[in-house]
Amino acid sequence: MSKVGAIGIFDSGYGGLTVLSEIKALMPEYDYIYLGDNARTPYGNRSFEVVYEFTLEAVKWFFAQGCHLVILACNTASAKALRTIQQVDLPKIAPEKRVLGVIRPTTECVETLSQTQHIGILGTEGTIQSKSYEIEIGKLHPQLTVTGEACPMWVPLVENKEYNKPGADYFVQQHLNRLLEKDSKIDTIILGCTHYPLLINKIKEFLPESINVISQGKYVAESLKNYLHRHPEMDKKCTKNGTVKYFTTESPEKFKQLASLFLNEEIEAEKVNELA
Ligand code: DGL
Repeated sequence: MSKVGAIGIFDSGYGGLTVLSEIKALMPEYDYIYLGDNARTPYGNRSFEVVYEFTLEAVKWFFAQGCHLVILACNTASAKALRTIQQVDLPKIAPEKRVLGVIRPTTECVETLSQTQHIGILGTEGTIQSKSYEIEIGKLHPQLTVTGEACPMWVPLVENKEYNKPGADYFVQQHLNRLLEKDSKIDTIILGCTHYPLLINKIKEFLPESINVISQGKYVAESLKNYLHRHPEMDKKCTKNGTVKYFTTESPEKFKQLASLFLNEEIEAEKVNELA
C-alpha cells in the first residue's frame, strides 16, 4: 500500500479499534493506519503534560507516514492534548494537516437521546477530571445536566481480557452505582472511553432497561464522514484503496492477539520502535 494519504487513527492501546471498526464499516473505501501506543498505555491516569507529549509524538509519527488527517480515537488524548495540538502545534508544524478527536462528535448526538436531559459520562480519570464532556456539551446543549464518573479499573479489565468474567462485576457495578447516586435522573450514559464498548453487555446487566448506553464509535464515524463531505480538499488527500495497516509500540504478536477481540478478525501488526 502507498503510505501517502491514509487516515491516521490513534489510541493509547487497543480501545481505538472500537472506533476504527465503525469508521471502516461506514467508509470501507479509505486507507487507514492505526497506531496503538501499547508500550506506554494506559494514558488515563497520566498527567496533562505527559498525555500531551505522547500524543504529539504520535501525531508527528502519523505525519511522517504521509497522513493528512489524524483521528485521536482516545478520549484521554482528545481531552488532554487535542486543543493544544490544534491551536499551538499544527499551525507551526503542519498548517495544512488536521487532527480531530472523539469528544465533540459524541456530544453532538446527546440531546436527541435523553428524555430527562440528564446525561452520565463514564471515562478514565484523565477524561473525567478534564471536564471536557461538560464543557463541550455545555457549549452545544446548555440545558443538559452532565455528571461524570471515573472508572480507573475498567481499562485494565479490558486489556487483561477480564471484561467478560465474574470478577469484572464488582468494578462495573461499583461505578454505575456511584454515577446514579450522584444523579438519579440520568437516562443516557455515554461510554467516554474507547475501551468501554467491550464492557457494554456487563454494563447493561447492572442498569435498568430505561437507561440508554451509548458507544461513541458510530457517532465518530458519522461525524468523520460528514467532515470529509464538508472538506473536499481534505477528502482528495485521503487515498482510497480500502487498506488498513496496524502499528504498535509494543509487541506486534501481542497486539495481533488482543486486537482480534476488538475487531473480530485476524490482523497483522508492525512494531514502531521510536515515536519521538
Ligand atoms: N482508550 C482511552 C480512552 O478512550 C483510555 C485508555 C487509557 O487509559 O490509556 O480514554
